[in-house]
Parts: sequence; structure tokens; C-alpha cells
Amino acid sequence: MEDQISKRNKETRIMKEDIEKNDLSKDDKRNKIKRRGGMKKYQRWIIILISLSISIFFVIPYIKTFTFGFNGKMEEGKRLHHWIGRGYKYQRVEDPILNEDHDKAKGVLLSVVFPHELNKFIRTMQTMEDSFNVNFNYDWLILSNETFHQRDLTTLRGLASGKIQFGLIPEDEIRYPTNTDKKKMEKNMEKFVDKKVPFAKSMEMRQKNRYFSKFFYKHALLQPYDYFWRVDPDAVILCKIDYDVFRFMKDNNKTFGFISGSHTYAEVVDGLWNVTSKFMNNHPQLINKNNLIKFVKNDKDEFNRCQFLTNWEIASFKMFRNDKYEAYSAYLESLQGFFNELWPDNMVHTLFASIYLDREELYHFKNMGFDYNPFRICPIENEILARERCGCFATDDFTWHRLSCIPQYYELMGLTKKAPVSHNNYG
Ligand SMILES: *[C@@H]1O[C@H](CO)[C@@H](O)[C@H](O)[C@H]1NC(C)=O
Ligand SMILES: *[C@@H]1O[C@H](CO)[C@@H](O)[C@H](O)[C@H]1NC(C)=O
Ligand SMILES: *[C@@H]1O[C@H](CO)[C@@H](O)[C@H](O)[C@H]1NC(C)=O
Repeated sequence: MEDQISKRNKETRIMKEDIEKNDLSKDDKRNKIKRRGGMKKYQRWIIILISLSISIFFVIPYIKTFTFGFNGKMEEGKRLHHWIGRGYKYQRVEDPILNEDHDKAKGVLLSVVFPHELNKFIRTMQTMEDSFNVNFNYDWLILSNETFHQRDLTTLRGLASGKIQFGLIPEDEIRYPTNTDKKKMEKNMEKFVDKKVPFAKSMEMRQKNRYFSKFFYKHALLQPYDYFWRVDPDAVILCKIDYDVFRFMKDNNKTFGFISGSHTYAEVVDGLWNVTSKFMNNHPQLINKNNLIKFVKNDKDEFNRCQFLTNWEIASFKMFRNDKYEAYSAYLESLQGFFNELWPDNMVHTLFASIYLDREELYHFKNMGFDYNPFRICPIENEILARERCGCFATDDFTWHRLSCIPQYYELMGLTKKAPVSHNNYG
């Protein structure tokens, strides 16, 4: 009996010891696990820290857009963006020469919008903001012949990432001039309809043509600015533009920038060419020695009806605010061709730029997408289409089409032309 008891006690002791031992080893294990767990956490933190710093680097330019983009106080955000931007954004530009300091130029986005065009214009403005201006916050100036409804003003203000101003066009600059020869105008209108000239009978087109030839640069609200980018209702920007085009114009001493050029209707430009030739002959001293007159001539030295599109135009006001332009536009106005005929401001600007500017002051903007019926401009290289996130197909590009005048410009400037891709449109 005693033996049995003492045996059991012994067993119990042993069991107890065993359990304690086991417990100890469990603790030990737990400790080990804890220690190993500590190692894991430490590594995880390093990984989290590294990925955070990487993502912050990429996210900052966009944070800036939201933090600073819409409240008008741009300084901090702009500097931050440009500081980061220098690393990877600007290196994309193919003809760079951007200065070290990234101050903005005195540029303005300029639109002339009749009230009934507001619905088209709001889309245009949105694409312009999203593709370009949201990163640069240039001012807008919207001119019209009438004041807009308060509700529409609020919507437009909401879209602008920079300052936005609305201006009235003085009535005598935009309305039908009272001295127009109405009979002559109506006779020409019928003739243009027969010849299927677009906007043959449009008074609004005539009003805008005259305004953009003779008056726009004199508007009081445009006086603080050195450069403008004309943004027409109906135009759509198709690619991202990730550099400051106004600074580009300024840093490279460019005066007139264009994206497209085409042959146009004889009926509306031949008369304009005739009177311009006369003006040139009467004032030969005004002609620039390094001009690009050949852009508007063919092999036989005849007028070829080539014009740069001004529905997309980035130019310096220097081109217009001078005695030469004043003399030329006053002469055109005296002949009343804007209403009697249908002289386009496209051609007025083209003729002035090719005759009176140094050819080096002109610039063709590449790698940008632009839609203005019936023309669509689209980069033709796949890597540019992807890089600039273009919403267009290379096969729709008009730039290198045989009816385009851009190849002739490249030839005259000794630049390398590109072969057209196969075309869906334009015949
Ligand atoms: C402004 O232009 C539109 C379109 O041509 C016209 O219908 C309207 O009457 C003009 N408004 C004024 C005040 O002249
Ligand atoms: C632009 O013109 C200025 C002043 O004439 C000159 O100093 C500068 O080198 C020119 N820049 C370019 C890129 O031609
Ligand atoms: C332009 O001048 C040419 C040659 O002098 C003439 O044949 C033509 O009729 C003129 N065109 C217009 C529209 O005035």
C-alpha cells in the first residue's frame, strides 16, 4: 500500500516536472515565435516605407492639381509641380529648349463665343482644361457679343483652373458694318452656294472673320497678355499636352504657331490674294527679307491657296500690335471683303505671317491631336499616340495628306517630312 502510494506520488512528481518542463519549452517556443514575428514586422515596415515614398513621388503632381488647382492660389503647387516635372515631364518634349526657371509666360486662352455656341464650347473648354491647362492654369478670356446667363457663367468658372474673364465685344466691331454693299454680298452668297463653299451665306462666319482679322488684339482685356491660344467652340483637343506651350513660344522666339494647313476655296481667297499682292507691291519695304512667301505659291509662282488653320493658333500679340499689321488690316477693311466676299481670317493671318514675319518665327506644333471639322490632326507614331494618350487614330491624320500644306512648309524649311499613313478620310 505504502509502496503504491509512494509510487503514485513519484509518478505525480514526475508528471508535474514533465508538465513544467513542457510548459517551459512552450514558453520558450512562444518567445521564439514572438522574436521571429518581430523580425517580420520590422521588414514589413521597411517595405511599406519604401513603397510609400515611391508612390508619394508619383502622386505629388496630382495632389497639387487638387490642392491648388481650383482655388486660384497657385504659387506653392506650381513650384512643386515644376520641380518634380523637370525630372520626367519635360524630358518628353521633342523640341525642348525650356529655361531653367519655369515661370509662366503672359499667355491667355482666348475664345469668341456667341451665346448659342455655349453648349459646344463647354466641351471644348473641358478638353482644353483636362489635356493641358489643369497643369498650367493659364487665364481664360471669353469674348461675346452678349452677356451670358449667370448660371452659365458659374459653370464656365467651375471649369477654369486659372482666372477666367468674360468680355463684351464692342458692337461696331462684331455687327454687320453699315457701309456693306448688301446687293454685292447677296450676289456673292448665291455664287458661293453654287460652288458649295462652306458657310456660303453665314453672317456669323463673316463677323468672326472680320473680328479676328481687324479687332480682337485691341480688346482692353487682352492688353496685359503677350501670347494667346485661340480656342474655338467646336474644336477638340485630342492628346495630352504636357509642356507649357506659351513658355515654349517665348523661349524659342516664336511668333506664330500652327497645327495644320490646307488648301482652301478659290472663290473666297483669290480676291484677298489679289488685293494683298497689290499691298505688297505698294509697300515693298515692309516685306520681311527672310519671309516664307513661297508657302502660298506653287512651282509656277502662282497663288496656291494654302492657309494655316487659325481655329488652333498660338501666337504672340507682337504679330498684330505693330504698324505693319495695322496698315495691312486697315487696307483690307477699306475694301469690305469680309462681308461682300468671305475673306477668312485664316488666310489673313497666313498671308501676313508668310510675308511680314521672319520664317524662323513660325512654328508647326507636332505630336498634338486636334479635331475641327472636317480636319482631324493626330500623331502617326504609335508610341506618341500612347504616350500622349491621344483619342484618335493615326489613319485619320490630315497633316501628311496630299491636300495638306504642312509637307510644303517642311520642304521650304528643310525639315524632314513624314510619309502619310493610309487614310480613311479626305478622299
Ligand atoms: C449676338 O450674335 C447672335 C448670333 O449672330 C445674334 O443672334 C444676336 O442677336 C447677337 N446679339 C446682339 C446683342 O447683337
Ligand atoms: C531669342 O532671342 C533672344 C534675344 O534676341 C536671344 O538672346 C535668344 O538666344 C533667342 N533664343 C533662341 C532659342 O533663339
Ligand atoms: C484676281 O486677279 C486675277 C489676275 O489679275 C484675275 O483674273 C481674277 O479675276 C482676280 N480675282 C478676283 C476674285 O478678284
